[in-house]
Amino acid sequence: MKTLVIGSGAREHTLVWKLAQSPKVKEIYAAPGNAGMAKEAQIVDIKVDDNEGLLKFARDNRIDLTVVGPEQPLANGIVDLFSKNGLAIFGPDQKAAEIESSKVFAAELMEKHGIPCPHSDAFTNFEKAREYLKLQKSPFVIKTDGLAAGKGVIIDLSQEEALKSLTNIMQNKTFGKAGDRVVIQEHLEGREMSFFVFTDGKTVAPTVPACDYKRIFDWNKGPNTGGMGSYSPPEFYNRVLGDIIMKTIMEPIILAMADEGRPYKGALYGGLMITNKVPRVIEFNARLGDPEAQVVLPRLKTDLVEIMLAVVENRLDKIKIEFENNACVGVVIASGGYPGPYTTGFTVNGLDDVDKDIMVFHAGTRTSPEGQVLTSGGRVLTVAATGKNLSEARKKVYQNITRIKFEECYYRKDIALVK
Ligand code: AMP
Ligand code: GLY
Repeated sequence: MKTLVIGSGAREHTLVWKLAQSPKVKEIYAAPGNAGMAKEAQIVDIKVDDNEGLLKFARDNRIDLTVVGPEQPLANGIVDLFSKNGLAIFGPDQKAAEIESSKVFAAELMEKHGIPCPHSDAFTNFEKAREYLKLQKSPFVIKTDGLAAGKGVIIDLSQEEALKSLTNIMQNKTFGKAGDRVVIQEHLEGREMSFFVFTDGKTVAPTVPACDYKRIFDWNKGPNTGGMGSYSPPEFYNRVLGDIIMKTIMEPIILAMADEGRPYKGALYGGLMITNKVPRVIEFNARLGDPEAQVVLPRLKTDLVEIMLAVVENRLDKIKIEFENNACVGVVIASGGYPGPYTTGFTVNGLDDVDKDIMVFHAGTRTSPEGQVLTSGGRVLTVAATGKNLSEARKKVYQNITRIKFEECYYRKDIALVK
């Protein structure tokens, strides 16, 4: 088979790496890809939002299966376009992807069907939102309705800050059109967890969950990022909790989507808060998580291509999805200054100095004309390892991560440090 992966982050590198392990896969292309993917895939210079360019490439090169990594192309309707043209593609169509691209749609659907979630109210009118916010208690959770590259969620402790955030989003348009409508949400306390399923719209197959670290500094200090590390499984996870999540959240939401006339196919990501053992949904995403994919996919035993084809061909009930009974830890190395301004173009050294069983998934990297790997983004690499348990996997990652160096590189030291 010939496959095409759309995206350029470490999640997409992990997808490429996993697809490359399939005996079914002969050729892999990655658009626009990164320096690390060049080992397993041919890099194609087409941007993720260039629907027509991607379609032409897939047609001209007779791609058998296209896999969409990030949310933007899903929201742009890449799946609709490929499907209309008879090309197999893994991911939800535009209407189904609204479960991520519109927080208001997701919140209303969950309320309508009694899927456990925090109470939310949506506003397009600034004055009304302001009056409502004044009646709420700290901490205040404000979300932009549209996609805002993971930065559209603001949690403020004081009412003064929250009113300022609301003004910035709705009046100063700091997130552009994504802030035309905002959601003000009840704040949930508890342990956060990312839970993924594969689904063909009927069968809902669980995978293994992971914990993500959103803040830039150790002990969850500093601003939010795209994710600085992750581990799987969460130490507080067990089969009973998994069963509750499937029965009260994942299976009902897939049924609800079908009933809304938006059958959902692909990977669905539940961002959950577990409060006193009760899971509730903070958000749904229409894709795998980053950096969660980097610790979930290495644990997958079943051929990923088999799963994706079964999803595309509506026969997920016919296959069994299995995971290793191990643990995986991933730590992100970022450019100094990220998520604020940072410098790129530094040479990445030591990539070949890590132990054989260490996985290095690239994100913001590119190859120089001389063949060197240079930094080109905020999150540069995810260094990951599996082990028989979390502490073994964690030890391997931190023993190896110091061998990879570039100027101003930064990573958190507390990933997967659990009791
Ligand atoms: P999101 O971009 O939706 O993943 O939100 C970013 C982060 O904000 C989440 O990972 C949570 O840590 C936090 N968050 C979002 N909504 C809530 C909520 N209702 N209660 C508590 N924390 C939240
Ligand atoms: N790890 C958070 C996300 O992928 O949205």
